[in-house]
Amino acid sequence: MVGLNYYCSKGVFQLNHKSSMKRKMIIDISLICLFLSLIAFIYLYISSTHKKELENASASKDHLIIKETEDTFYKHAELSYKTDDLSYKIQYPKTSSKKLNTDIQKAINNMKQTYIDTHSKDSSLSIDYDVYKNEKTYSFVLSQKVKEGIVFTEKNFLNFTFDTENDVNLSLKDIIPTNKELKYAQLLINKKLQQQDASKKYFKEQHKELQIDTDSRHFNNFALDQQRIIFYFNTGDFTRPYNGTAKVIIERTELNQVLATATKKEQPIKKTTAIVAKKSNTASKKEQPIKKGTATAAKKTATKKQKVVALTFDDGPNTTSTVKILSILKKHNAKATFFIVGNQAKANPSIVKKIAAEQHELGNHTFAHPDLKNLSTKNIQLQISSTNKYIKAASGQNPTVFRPPYGSTNASINKIAQLPAVLWDVDTLDWQHRNPNKTFNNIKKNTRNHSIILMHDIHMTTADALDRSMTYLEKQGYSFVTVSQLRKIKAASSK
Ligand code: NI
Repeated sequence: MVGLNYYCSKGVFQLNHKSSMKRKMIIDISLICLFLSLIAFIYLYISSTHKKELENASASKDHLIIKETEDTFYKHAELSYKTDDLSYKIQYPKTSSKKLNTDIQKAINNMKQTYIDTHSKDSSLSIDYDVYKNEKTYSFVLSQKVKEGIVFTEKNFLNFTFDTENDVNLSLKDIIPTNKELKYAQLLINKKLQQQDASKKYFKEQHKELQIDTDSRHFNNFALDQQRIIFYFNTGDFTRPYNGTAKVIIERTELNQVLATATKKEQPIKKTTAIVAKKSNTASKKEQPIKKGTATAAKKTATKKQKVVALTFDDGPNTTSTVKILSILKKHNAKATFFIVGNQAKANPSIVKKIAAEQHELGNHTFAHPDLKNLSTKNIQLQISSTNKYIKAASGQNPTVFRPPYGSTNASINKIAQLPAVLWDVDTLDWQHRNPNKTFNNIKKNTRNHSIILMHDIHMTTADALDRSMTYLEKQGYSFVTVSQLRKIKAASSK
């Protein structure tokens, strides 16, 4: 304002000629504008650098300590940060492998960011790790714990088993290479889980058996030392929520004949498998008393009550395979649950309407199928609410259940969704193999009473497997219910 007066008065008093006065005024106004934008620019510049400084200041409050350990392969790192409403303490190994460090760092950043994005007031995150060592391998098992007030803790594991000689991460497939061997390991794990306090009740209620697919997430967290192989299970995997985690230790002597150590890997596989086959035969004979028990128990429940199963279809709907699936369900007079993706509901509202009209259950499977653990609270809300909106607009109904994409969820995500989160226990892997025979066989092999079967209605190959899968299950005495009906039946039967 000061500058403006100065220029104006200068213009008025120094010039008499009218037109040149007009020209001078235009120049003056342009100068004023230039001057004002310069001030605005400087202000914006200063405020943005100030903001950056603030951000740097908060990041620099991360306090990092690195200590030597007795071992030459790794050092102990400790990262901590604390403010009034959030705090974390992250302990992790800093190894001499660049590759492994990158993987560990990435995992830690992920957990940290998820916590920061979704944390509630007065909460804390702690990450700790266990170390196991074999001749050439190190297993680091990171465990994550989120505390909210004093009420709730959640614990999840993340494993890195690393071959130091070849500088590679090992998967369970490297340790237990064949399905037969896995099957044997599974028997042992199952038996041990059923004996432990944390998981015992869960097994009793769910009649659940470990899936033996090697890509099963349940098998991801294992560690090796010289005598043992240790399996870690997240909260809720094989325990009831709030019963904590489970850990199964298998002695190498128990698995000796089946465990292929890193050095044995080069041996002709056929021989090992032959031995394994024999061993697991005798092993399953030994297990028979238990098997008999469960068989008669199953018979008893079968005669008492009818067996039920929930068919679930994800990622649709579309105008082709979903429609075919609906007609097969109708033929069998069966009700199923569709976990609808919001953008598909937006694209195909008439099919959503048809699903609802035929009395199947509607579920929310997010708008764009992201891994919700990577999103901020606000974006998670948006994924859920926009999907609810499109489903409601198409069908007149609100979804009653929720399924997180990839089964990737935690307590805070479930809280945001405000709908019961529904996972599955029979994974047909229909999206992966796109083979009707495999889908059928998977269902045939893995379905139990109260199973929730995961399929995807967007594949014609899934529709092609459905009719005979349903016919088979009906012959086994199953009837088909929605997941909400299944939850009620389960709740009633555990009373
Ligand atoms: Ni999905």
